[in-house]
Parts: sequence; structure tokens; C-alpha cells
Amino acid sequence: MTKPFLAALAGQRQKRPPVWLMRQAGRYLPEYREMRAKAPSFLDFCYTPEFAVEATLQPIRRFGFDAAILFSDILVMPDALGQSVSFETGEGPRLTPIETAQDFARLSEAPDWAKLAPVFAAVAGVRARLPAETALIGFCGAPWTVASYMIAGRGTPDQAPARLFAYRHPDLFSRLIDRLADASADYLARQIEAGAEAVQIFDSWSGVLPSAEFERWCVAPLRRLVARLRAQQPDVPIIAFPRGAATHLGRFAEVEGLAAIGLDTAADPHVAAAMLPARLALQGNLDPLALIAGGAALDAGVEAALEAFAGPRAHIFNLGHGILPETPIAHVEQMLARIRA
Ligand code: CP3
Repeated sequence: MTKPFLAALAGQRQKRPPVWLMRQAGRYLPEYREMRAKAPSFLDFCYTPEFAVEATLQPIRRFGFDAAILFSDILVMPDALGQSVSFETGEGPRLTPIETAQDFARLSEAPDWAKLAPVFAAVAGVRARLPAETALIGFCGAPWTVASYMIAGRGTPDQAPARLFAYRHPDLFSRLIDRLADASADYLARQIEAGAEAVQIFDSWSGVLPSAEFERWCVAPLRRLVARLRAQQPDVPIIAFPRGAATHLGRFAEVEGLAAIGLDTAADPHVAAAMLPARLALQGNLDPLALIAGGAALDAGVEAALEAFAGPRAHIFNLGHGILPETPIAHVEQMLARIRA
């Protein structure tokens, strides 16, 4: 039996859409918060396979999602390239910002694979413990999104520091983007070797790029990453999640080798379907706030999503962005009951 999530990624529409949630492991789960308190830092937690394996499995045990996503973070890549990365509680990531050519020169040419070894150990550990019908997703950040944190040193409302840097130093920025594309391709290939059965590329900040820059910093790097990954792992399905890029979705039709596109909360599934070839599965896109609200708003949101993705094309049910820490567990159960009814 093919796992339903993988069948959907192969383009076969399932009777009930397979479902998983972005950021499905994490702070809305009391069992995660309890375990997280045992690690000195978030990165230590990510680099301890026992923790990462358990955090990955927690939402599977509780909810029986069709896919598990490796517990890690997109910012382990700058860490492996030698940039200092830390996570301040309640404040988000902090990196030593890249402001000059000298800062860029201090980065390694390629990731320190020894540093990432615990991630691959976690992948293998999860794969060995997953139920037979559950698939394992590996992931990385898209070059633009990761670069935007590397330049600013933190999350900002519109990643203006990276956009400014790209205007002022296009050649240097292009070298950073290429390095991230190649390193991320190799990183995903190693996750697949360790047991990941599909991969998702998170471009959480693609929506802040002007239309004219979108091809250069989002689509072209994705094409480079996917080509290099497929040269190593030709068969594993790849999901791209370009957040905030609803109007540009048509450009992904030309990225060879994608299996699915993740739609964010604001994207209209009908419009997306009109722009994208039928072979691409669509994933999405319930509003994470509807999941917090619960009640009639949640029921209506689930129904609307199921209806909007009706038709011959394969659909994977998900949120339009990550689940928020204040989400009640009962609402996740309510959502699943409705999808599975
Ligand atoms: O999906 C999963 O359950 C797997 C784990 C996962 C995390 N981060 C764990 C995490 C995944 C897939 C990510 C991806 C990620 N990380 C993205 C892309 C998706 C998105 O949400 O847009 C981005 C932009 C990051 C960078 C990042 N990591 C930020 C901005 C923050 C701070 C904000 C926040 O949500 O806390 C993190 C920290 C982080 N990553 C936490 C978790 C569970 C919280 C830290 C903690 O538990 O102490």
C-alpha cells in the first residue's frame, strides 16, 4: 500500500485528503513544552536526536496525521555555515548579521556536515518508529528566506535589510543565494538518504519581494536547488511553500521537478489551480486563526477549504501557515473529525 500522503504527491487524488499541519510539533503541545524545558537551548534541543525524534512523533501519536515533519529548524543551515545562531525565548532567532563583504567571507563554503549529523540521526530514528501508513517529511528553508535572516540577523516585518542588501550588493547577495541553494540541495539529499520520503522547501518570506525581483531571488534559486537535489535523488517528491506569492504562483509551473505547491492562507485555491499544471498537487490552506477560534468558524473554514480544493487534482490538507502556540488541542481534533468524516 502506498502511503496516502505520498500517493497524493504522486498526483493521485485521495478519497479523503491526507492531512498534516505546518509546525505540527511544538509549543501548543504540553508534552513538547515539558520536554523542551529539559534542553538548555532550542538549538541543543534540535541537535539532540532523542529530543528531535520524540518531538516529531508527539503529534503523530496524538492526532495520527498522514505525515510527520522532522523536528528541526530552517536556521540550522546558517549555523552549519559558521554563522552564530541562537533563539531568545519569546523573541525569535538572533544571528550575527551579515553587513559587509568581510562578514560574508567568514562563512564556510559548504556546511559543516558533522554539525548536522544529529539531524540525520533524528531522521533515521523517526523513520524507524513511524506507523506504516505515515510518511516522513524532511525540510529546509528556501535560499531567499534563509538569506533574509542571515542578513538582518533576525526576523523583521518585511525583511527590508536583505532587500536593501540585494539592491546595494547584488553580486555578493547572489553568491550567498547560490551557496544556500547548493548547500540546501545537499542537505535535503542527505535527509532523504537518512529516511525522509518527501521534502518541503519553506519560502516564508517570498511575499515581500517586488514582482521584478521574484524571479531572481525566489524562482531561479528554487530551480537551482531542485535541479541539484534531483541529480542526487531523482524520485523524492518536493513541495514548495512560497508564502505570500499567490499572484506569482504561475511562475512555479516552470520549475521542473516539483510535486506540489503549498498555498498560504490568502491564496485562492481556484486561482492557483488555474495557474498551475494539473500534475502538481496542491497543499493548504486553512487559516491558522480559524483553528484557534474553533466552533462554527473552524467548521466553516474546513468546509470551505475542502470545497475549494474539490475536483480531479490531488489535495493535501494543511494550514496556510504554521500552527500557532495558543491553538487549543481540542480544535485540532475538531478539524480532523470534520476532514475524516
Ligand atoms: O513543522 C514542524 O513541526 C517542524 C519543526 C519546525 C520548526 N521551525 C520548529 C520551531 C519547522 C518546519 C520550522 C520552520 C521555520 N523556522 C520557518 C518556516 C516556516 C514558517 O513558520 O514560516 C521559519 C521562518 C523558521 C525560523 C524560526 N524558528 C523562527 C522565526 C522562530 C521563532 C518564532 C517562533 O515560532 O517561535 C523559530 C523557533 C522555532 N522553530 C520554534 C519551533 C518549535 C519555537 C522555539 C521553541 O520551542 O523554543
